[in-house]
Amino acid sequence: MARFTPDFLDELKARLRPSDVIGRYVKLKKQGNEWAGLSPFTKEKTPSFFVNDQKGFYHCFSSSKHGDVISFLQETQRLTFHEAVERLAEEAGLPLPAETPGDAARAQRAQGLAEACAGAAQYFAAMLQRSDGRQAMDYLRGREVSDGQIKQFNIGFAPSGRRGLKDFLINKGFDEDVLIEAGLIIKPEDGSASFDRFRNRIMFPITGPRDRVIAFGGRALDPEARAKYLNSPATPLFHKGSVLYNFNAARMASADAKAPLIVCEGYMDVIALWGAGFKHSVAPLGTALTEDQLALLWRASDEPVLCFDGDKAGVAAAHRAIDRALPLIKPGKSLSFAFLPEGQDPDDVLRSEGAAAFSTILNEIHPLVDVLWDREIAARPLDTPERRAALKAHLRGLVKTIVDNDVRGAYGAEFARRLDERFAPPPRTGAQRSGGGWRGGEGPGGQGQGGQGRARNWGANQRGQGFRFTEPARPTPGLKRRGGPSQWSREASLILAAINHPTLIERQETAFLDLELTDPDLKALLSEVLSAISLDTGLDSAGLKSHLSGTGAAGSMERVLNDPELSKHRFLRPDTEIGEAEQGFRNALALHLFDSTLKQEVVRSASQIFTDGDESWKAAAAAREELVNTNKASEQNVLDNGDSPKRFDDALERMKQSVDKKFNR
Ligand code: GTP
Ligand code: MN
Repeated sequence: MARFTPDFLDELKARLRPSDVIGRYVKLKKQGNEWAGLSPFTKEKTPSFFVNDQKGFYHCFSSSKHGDVISFLQETQRLTFHEAVERLAEEAGLPLPAETPGDAARAQRAQGLAEACAGAAQYFAAMLQRSDGRQAMDYLRGREVSDGQIKQFNIGFAPSGRRGLKDFLINKGFDEDVLIEAGLIIKPEDGSASFDRFRNRIMFPITGPRDRVIAFGGRALDPEARAKYLNSPATPLFHKGSVLYNFNAARMASADAKAPLIVCEGYMDVIALWGAGFKHSVAPLGTALTEDQLALLWRASDEPVLCFDGDKAGVAAAHRAIDRALPLIKPGKSLSFAFLPEGQDPDDVLRSEGAAAFSTILNEIHPLVDVLWDREIAARPLDTPERRAALKAHLRGLVKTIVDNDVRGAYGAEFARRLDERFAPPPRTGAQRSGGGWRGGEGPGGQGQGGQGRARNWGANQRGQGFRFTEPARPTPGLKRRGGPSQWSREASLILAAINHPTLIERQETAFLDLELTDPDLKALLSEVLSAISLDTGLDSAGLKSHLSGTGAAGSMERVLNDPELSKHRFLRPDTEIGEAEQGFRNALALHLFDSTLKQEVVRSASQIFTDGDESWKAAAAAREELVNTNKASEQNVLDNGDSPKRFDDALERMKQSVDKKFNR
């Protein structure tokens, strides 16, 4: 029996999902938080057998059997405990512990330490109820801690004397060595008598797996005490970075309430939250969350909510948690954040404003990605190209730390999108712009520092320093409007050429059939044009126009025919001879294809910027810039009176080659 330590069994169970193991023997169907199936223990027609992954057990209502994956295999597969554990360990990829005399001795020793801690907890609890504990009790009452909370958390009191606990436990038969190793008493180096570690403190027992007391936190009653809180030192039972206060109970409560774990900073917060009905709360023990603690959290919840004070220190702590968590996030497994009013912890909020106020805060949680984005945006001014480049580089560095491929890819795409949205916003009217600043994609609003971060961002933009991913093309004489309208003009010019010269469609048949337009009205118009021509190949311009005017695309045709900008191009005039019209059409088509292909490339590489490293991003940016410059120079030349189409062709060719090279094709 001693071969499998409790820690080993905990690890084993943590690695296996009960529904996976049991699902191999019983057909299970997801039902809310649980899995349901027909009882393997009785013959039944309606499912009364339930498996709860969060709680790590099954329950059979028809047979009243109840247990974990190990007992499931024992019961249903007639395995011994050892056999069941061995089979599961193999499945979990967990090496079986070698049975050495050392292991057995260590397990025994740990058991002794746990018993000493249990004895100490008992002593502290009793002391709180006695007259010695009067001041402590008054203090707790003053903080509105009820008897229910005292009982639930087994809160106690360590009196001021130096040997109350020591005498109590020695009298119970514990060795002094054990008490020292358990961190309950201190043995001075100078050889003088050992004494109680915790004195004149409110005591919070810390429990480990199976609710065993493994350590204590003690809050000083004396405001002058050197440390407000004192924890047990590291012991064979206790490593503070692997433990969360109230984890076991909170995990169960979280499964019951179907609510994510709440993570706060202190013992008193957890206790106050429990009293207010938030029984699914935990706290680390005075340090930033460790990897081990994150793993514990994710065992209980997909997205635990971390509560932080909205002040600077709280936000900094949230940021530390993000840096710690980022490499470890997995599909579906992340963190979210709730920021409390400045200078307040959950205990303060509950006492001053009540449970409803805390619920409201929990309803305004911020996903990790938003808090991270806000931090990076607020971290530096973004008013020069170098600083904006630094932002990108920094984001890329952060995304690279994410180990999971899918999540890393998703973050890369998300930040690329946000950068694009923030720095290359669609054209807006002046009124809109001064009204609200760019939408930066910062996610749900809220008070606290998120708001502060945004305020700073907006400041930068309102000073007119918002960065654009692309410099807007200077309006050309031919095509004045940029962005959407310019694209509209380019697409419209292709159709107008066909309406004026329907024979173009035959001459450029594949081009027309492959033509992809983005404007929905122009798309509809094009398809009317093509279907008219396919029905009557001999249709001339006048015939085509009259046909189109009887279709739903009539309005679009009118707009194309009457657009003053389009009519300025010679190849788009009805009286241009077909050779010139065709050359103009081909140039316009090349420009259109190039632009749309390039846009796709830019979008593609933007979303890979973080995962592929530097090169594709740089290439995309350079290509984009080149496109814009060429547009400025060439649209005018090409579309305007067919001036120097040859030069444009050459430029286009050069550009294509350079882009090809950049994208390594
Ligand atoms: P109260 O003042 O009792 O409400 O405690 P708090 O939880 O509001 O205090 P604070 O925010 O200062 O501390 C949060 C947590 O940090 C505590 O629950 C402790 O776990 C830890 N902590 C605070 N002060 C100390 C200290 O002096 N030493 C150590 N080791 N931990 C501390
Ligand atoms: Mn507090």
